[in-house]
Amino acid sequence: NKITVSVIKADIGGLCGHTLAPEDLLEACEGVLEAVVDELIIDYYVTRCGDDVDLIMTHRMGVDNEEIHKLAWNAFEEATKVAKELKLYGAGQDLLAESFSGNVRGLGPGCAEMEFVERPSEPIVVFCCDKTDPAAFNFPLYKMFADPFNTAGLVFDPSMTGGFAFEVHDIMDSKKVILNTPEETYSLLALIGDVEKYAIKRVYRRKDNEIAAVVSTEKLNYIAGEYVGKDDPVAIVRAQSGFPAVGEVLEPFADPHFVAGWMRGSHWGPLMPVGEDDATPSRFDGPARIMALGFQLADGMLVGPNDLFADKSFDKAREKALVMADIIRRMGPFQPHRLPSGMMEYTTVPKVLEKLKDRFEDIEDEPKKLEKCRERGDVE
Ligand code: 13P
Ligand code: 13P
Ligand code: MG
Ligand code: MG
Ligand code: MG
Repeated sequence: NKITVSVIKADIGGLCGHTLAPEDLLEACEGVLEAVVDELIIDYYVTRCGDDVDLIMTHRMGVDNEEIHKLAWNAFEEATKVAKELKLYGAGQDLLAESFSGNVRGLGPGCAEMEFVERPSEPIVVFCCDKTDPAAFNFPLYKMFADPFNTAGLVFDPSMTGGFAFEVHDIMDSKKVILNTPEETYSLLALIGDVEKYAIKRVYRRKDNEIAAVVSTEKLNYIAGEYVGKDDPVAIVRAQSGFPAVGEVLEPFADPHFVAGWMRGSHWGPLMPVGEDDATPSRFDGPARIMALGFQLADGMLVGPNDLFADKSFDKAREKALVMADIIRRMGPFQPHRLPSGMMEYTTVPKVLEKLKDRFEDIEDEPKKLEKCRERGDVE
C-alpha cells in the first residue's frame, strides 16, 4: 500500500538561450502524462524552473520503475519535438541517449524518488532548481536535519531527537557512506563541505529508518564527458510529525548560500529562493534559482501546490541574494567567482596551455616543488 513520489527533470530547450522553458514544453509533457492517469500514475504536476522541466508524479510502482521512467522519457521526447520545431536553444539538451533503456539514470535526465506508506497527513515539499548542481542541497539539508538552530524539532520533537542518517555519495568515485547525526556531525561536515566531490543523496529518520529526503545526484558533465549543461537538481522532503515542520524545511533558504553553477555552469553565486513566476534566471543567466512546491498527498493525489517561496517572508532573502550577486560578479573571470578548474562546466584553459606550451620556460634557481610533492605522494 505504498505510494511513490517521482520527480524527474530535464532541460529540453530554452526561450531564449538558457533562461526559460516555455509553456509549450509543459503542455507537451502534460499530454503524455494525462493519457496514463489512473492507469500507470495516480496524479502529476508539471512545472519548470528556468530552462528545466520538472515532472512531479505519484504512483504505486516503486522507485526506479522502468515504466515510470519510460513515461518520463516519452514526455521529454514529445517536448523535444516541440522544442525543435520552435528551434529553442539547446533543444533536447539533457536527452543524451538515442533511446530509452531501463531507467533514466545515466541517460541525461535527473531524478529524485521516494516510496513510503502515506501518513494520515503527508505534507511534502518538492524543490526544483536551475543553474546549479546537486551538492547545492548539502548545506540546506544539513541545516534542516542536523542543525537545532534551524530546526527546533531536533530539540523539541521526541521522534526527531534520535537524529537523522545522511547517505552521502562520492559523485566522482561512485561510492556511498551513511553518517549518523548528531554523533558523526563533524565527519559529515568534513565530507559534505566539499561540494566538488560529495553530495547528500538521501536522509533517513534514525528512530525507524523512514525516508525523509532525496536529491537527484546525476552528474551530467561526467555522463557526457564534455559540456552539456550542469545537472540542475530536484529534491523531495517530507515534513511535519516526526520530520522538520514545513517552515523548518524552508528556513535554510532564508539566508542564501553560495552554490556552483550560474553562467556557463562555471561560477559561484547565491541560490535565490523564488516563486514559480520568478524562476526565470536572466542576469548573467542567473543567479541560480530554487522553487519550493508544497503538496498534501491524499491517497496519492497531489493536493496543491502551495508555491512556498512566493511568500513575502522570503523577500529579504531575495534582496540579500541580489546583493551577494553584485559583490561576487565584480570578480569577473577571477576566483572565487569563477569555479576551480575541476568544477567548471567547460573551459578553454587546456587549449590556452596547449597554445602556449612552447613558450613556457623553467624559472631559474626555482626548485621543482610539484615534482617534490609528487615524490611524496601529496599530489597525483
Ligand atoms: P498553528 O498553530 O498555526 O497550527 O501552527 C502550529 C505550528 O506548529 C507551527 O510551526
Ligand atoms: P543550463 O544548465 O540551465 O542549461 O545552463 C547552462 C548555461 O550555460 C547557463 O549559462
Ligand atoms: Mg539549458
Ligand atoms: Mg537549466
Ligand atoms: Mg544546468
